[in-house]
Amino acid sequence: MARTVIMDHPLIQHKIGYIRRTDTGTKSFRETISEIATLICYEATRDLQLSDVKIQTPICETTVKELKGKKMAIVPILRAGLGMVDGMLTLIPAAKIGHIGLYRDPKTLKPVEYYCKLPADCAEREVFVVDPMLATGGSSIAAIQMLKERGCKNIRFLCIIAAPEGVKAMQEAHPDVDMYIGSLDEKLNDHGYIVPGLGDAGDRIFGTK
Ligand code: PRP
Ligand code: URA
Repeated sequence: MARTVIMDHPLIQHKIGYIRRTDTGTKSFRETISEIATLICYEATRDLQLSDVKIQTPICETTVKELKGKKMAIVPILRAGLGMVDGMLTLIPAAKIGHIGLYRDPKTLKPVEYYCKLPADCAEREVFVVDPMLATGGSSIAAIQMLKERGCKNIRFLCIIAAPEGVKAMQEAHPDVDMYIGSLDEKLNDHGYIVPGLGDAGDRIFGTK
């Protein structure tokens, strides 16, 4: 079973508290989502492999650590996942970016696929799937299934707020995928929204409501 890591860093908790507030406007919401993504990315890259490399400093020859060179890809689930991309790139600027378009049918709550464009060598990359919200789990489960069907093997999922129902569904559907979660909330309401949550992440990032 892969790891499910719930963030306990005070900066992450403080910033999540801020984006939950109804009176946080679009600009601040977007900026803070990006900052939280950077902080979660820091945790989600903690076990990347290193190798020893000999280099010359101005003083002497020495051995330093370098990332082993496994290539990375960031895959946001559209739309709301887009809000996390810049924050991820702050720490892994050379990552390639793929896009998976899914929306949740408001009646059935089932994900509907409308777009998929991935780096050609995605299967060889360490893939970071990002979406601020894990509610029923339908969207992230479907997105990761799409990646696996295209040969991806090393997949991590990063989200800002998760419901217990979604975490359980993800663990059952993709037991090999590590999850990094900013906050584990209480439950889903009758409309599939996370409680207390922050409302509709896409609408709040893009100002569409
Ligand atoms: C939101 C969110 C996730 C999904 C989570 O997207 O960004 O992708 O819902 O819900 P689930 O775990 O129950 O699938 P939404 O469908 O609202 O689309 P949008 O980002 O285009 O607004
Ligand atoms: N999608 C969101 O944007 N918010 C929720 O609470 C659930 C799904």
